[in-house]
Amino acid sequence: MNKSTDHIFYRNLRKFYPTAARGEGIYIFDTEGKKYIDGSGGAAVVGIGHGVKEITEAMLRQAEKISFAHSSQFTSPPTLELAAKLAQLAPEGLDKVYFLSGGSEAIETAVKMARQYQVERGKPEKYKVISRWTSYHGNTLGALSLSGHTGRRRLYLPLMLPTPHIQPAYCYRCPWGLVPEKCAWECAGDLEKTILYEGPDSVSAFIAEPIVGATAGVLVPPGGYFQKIREICDRHDVLFISDEVMTGMGRTGRNFGLDHWRVKPDMIVAAKGLSSGYTPIAAVIVREEIHRAIQEGSGAFVHGHTYSQNPLSCAIALAVIEHLLKHDLISRSAKMGEYFLRTLQSLYRHDFVGDIRGKGLFAGIELVKNKKTKEPYDPQLRLNAKVANLAFEKGLITYPGGGGADGIKGDHLLLAPPFIITEEQIDQLVAILDQTFTEVAKEIPRGLSPEAPSGKLSGRC
Ligand SMILES: Cc1ncc(COP(=O)(O)O)c(C=O)c1O
Repeated sequence: MNKSTDHIFYRNLRKFYPTAARGEGIYIFDTEGKKYIDGSGGAAVVGIGHGVKEITEAMLRQAEKISFAHSSQFTSPPTLELAAKLAQLAPEGLDKVYFLSGGSEAIETAVKMARQYQVERGKPEKYKVISRWTSYHGNTLGALSLSGHTGRRRLYLPLMLPTPHIQPAYCYRCPWGLVPEKCAWECAGDLEKTILYEGPDSVSAFIAEPIVGATAGVLVPPGGYFQKIREICDRHDVLFISDEVMTGMGRTGRNFGLDHWRVKPDMIVAAKGLSSGYTPIAAVIVREEIHRAIQEGSGAFVHGHTYSQNPLSCAIALAVIEHLLKHDLISRSAKMGEYFLRTLQSLYRHDFVGDIRGKGLFAGIELVKNKKTKEPYDPQLRLNAKVANLAFEKGLITYPGGGGADGIKGDHLLLAPPFIITEEQIDQLVAILDQTFTEVAKEIPRGLSPEAPSGKLSGRC
């Protein structure tokens, strides 16, 4: 427990949080001088690494000019430049950008924008947003309603909007019990069925993470899945919102996660890596037609936040993107990601490592009681927290999660180190995990005898 004399309302009131003193490269140092490898970039946030001087210099330069001008009164040079840069990085045609302070706020902005677009083009009955189970879109009530994670939703259910959810593309635990090579895209088909049940005339948008992050530990969909999703959205006049809060800005080795499948969404929501954690900022990048419908219609988006289009945050994010591009860090994320995923394969030797998957420097490890049946551990055991806590003690930060298997059961670790990580540092990271798994295994009940490690990457792509 933290010092009862301090005044912080902690996230977990029974946990001890060390005090972060400084960051450098892939490392965080606490005030006791202990060094941690930031193996998860916080929560898939830090791309360019900690303590980059160019960013703090850009921060200072902008702060000396102006830190705040309200978006109902001004725009600013860094806001204009950052929007232009994002329009360049996004697929062609997505070229208008709205800035916010964080992922949840940006998700809700995208949902409202979709709704207003439908009204402006004469389809006022379209308002529903379909999302997926085993997904995360944020913790504010609207974004949480769209999220498909039972543990995060349960307490707040009475406050939430009743929005439709479909099954995820989760090949390791296919909801239809199929294998990728034999399926007929039941997971994509679930979207079409749900649109038809709800009534296509009532559906405004579909939202999904290209690669599911926090709720299941990096679910890479089979190649072809998002092409099908795009076709279904087009067939029923439904907008497709890509939640790239984790997968955007090079995390998966491409500018945006959907780029792997050359699928163009109608809106992209980016956050986290957009500033690599140097400032709170998020963006909704929108297709020109959506912007035009509002421009030629009522002329004003009925929305806004105090820190929308904030000049200081935009200057910082701009410096981060310039650094990312100057040092070719997105290609590096792809290249080092391959080495990372290859190196992680050695962990299959542990009895409880069920699946290792990823793209770029975005990887997940699913922990199971029985490799053959994929039976998850009893959530009371809190295996994911046990592993993460021990790794933390050993100086490795990971991002644990649970509930991926059925909303309640399932344990995984999410790994998302900064793109500057070297092969040697990856070896160290994996060695700490290896040692952690060995020690945790001694403490937990053994499942049935494990299958031989498959050593295969999951997913069809
Ligand atoms: C995919 C995804 N969407 C939205 C969010 C919410 O972002 P924020 O925590 O900045 O509100 C997150 C946060 O983890 C996320 O992973």
